Amino acid sequence: MAQVWVRFGDHRDYPIVVKPGALKTVGHLARRRTPARVACLVSHPRIHRLYGRTVERSLRGAGFAVHILLVPEGETTKSMAWAERLIGRMIALRVDRSAVVVALGGGVVGDLAGFVAATYMRGLDFIQVPTTLLAQVDSSVGGKVAVNHARGKNLIGAFLQPRLVIADPEVLKTLAPRQLRSGLAELIKAAIIRDARFFSQLEREVDRLARLDMRALTQSIARACAIKGQVVEKDETEQNLRAILNYGHTFGHALETYHRFGTYLHGAAVALGMAVAARLAESLHVCSTQTADRQIAVLKKAGLPVRGKGENIRDILNVMKTDKKVLEGENKYILTPKIGSARIVKKIPSFSVHRVLKAVLGDT
Ligand SMILES: NC(=O)c1ccc[n+]([C@@H]2O[C@H](COP(=O)([O-])OP(=O)(O)OC[C@H]3O[C@@H](n4cnc5c(N)ncnc54)[C@H](O)[C@@H]3O)[C@@H](O)[C@H]2O)c1
Ligand SMILES: [Zn+2]
Repeated sequence: MAQVWVRFGDHRDYPIVVKPGALKTVGHLARRRTPARVACLVSHPRIHRLYGRTVERSLRGAGFAVHILLVPEGETTKSMAWAERLIGRMIALRVDRSAVVVALGGGVVGDLAGFVAATYMRGLDFIQVPTTLLAQVDSSVGGKVAVNHARGKNLIGAFLQPRLVIADPEVLKTLAPRQLRSGLAELIKAAIIRDARFFSQLEREVDRLARLDMRALTQSIARACAIKGQVVEKDETEQNLRAILNYGHTFGHALETYHRFGTYLHGAAVALGMAVAARLAESLHVCSTQTADRQIAVLKKAGLPVRGKGENIRDILNVMKTDKKVLEGENKYILTPKIGSARIVKKIPSFSVHRVLKAVLGDT
């Protein structure tokens, strides 16, 4: 078992518990972190069948009354319409401000349930029980909650730190392999931007994670959470430092949008985005060839894409211009001078970006 704390130095401090079998202890752990008597468990029907009953039993055993709120799978569920529906159900169930919202699922459930928790009666306690690797190493930590708008992803949201995060690596056994790889991309990202030792360890044993070795997973998930936690502690609302968590994301988001979210899962697009960022840093002499090569080798070893499919570079660049994170018309790039560190670089000449995109994506 591993436990990591995210510390703001006030009432928002919270633990992240990473432990195989932890699902059975959700109630017990929750009891120590919230005075709530009522828990609203938000999940998908399939995830509820697989794991919801265990969590429900655990919550009841610890004295919570439990309401089950199920939503369909898929990114389109992260919407105002579904948030309103959930809120409608909660009003009908006479849920008051003393309740806790428990999210059991991947990033979609976490973001949606968190948004409901942040807004229902101006805020309820919130607990994350992430069930995808991406959610366990990334989306459940840091307090960003959101739903999408027809015009773009995550445009309606809030900051709400959870009271507790419980990651049980056992649940990853039922996760589709491509979903697992998508999560590995974010895990590798955490190592690249912040922790050279962790990165070296991943170079040696990323395949153990892919093979679902529980010890390796427990330790790596906890390490990735600690890294994200430390960044968020320093810059909760992304004034500056938190942006380094977006390593590979400027290009990754552009690739997701270009392919209309069909070809690559988020993590795979980010992996390819990191390959582009690594080569860009190399070409600008921000990092050595070896530093770029090592990043690409680990991503490859994890079964992630590091070469494009001949995407049209002009279209990719156009998509990047409309990225929500573009600041005053100027793209920010996160580059790694060496493994374990990242910095924000502005004003990169567009021909440099163009050349690297062409080399990595292989425009036809
Ligand atoms: N809040 C943040 O900081 C943050 C960070 C990164 C991503 N996100 C958001 O997270 C979302 C993506 O999350 P995701 O990748 O977890 O996708 P997801 O929540 O859609 O889950 C992927 C699929 O896996 C299924 N699944 C989940 N757990 C499973 C399990 N244990 N066994 C079998 N199937 C399981 C889900 O039902 C779903 O069909 C996006 O909406 C993204 O914007 C948020
Ligand atoms: Zn991401």
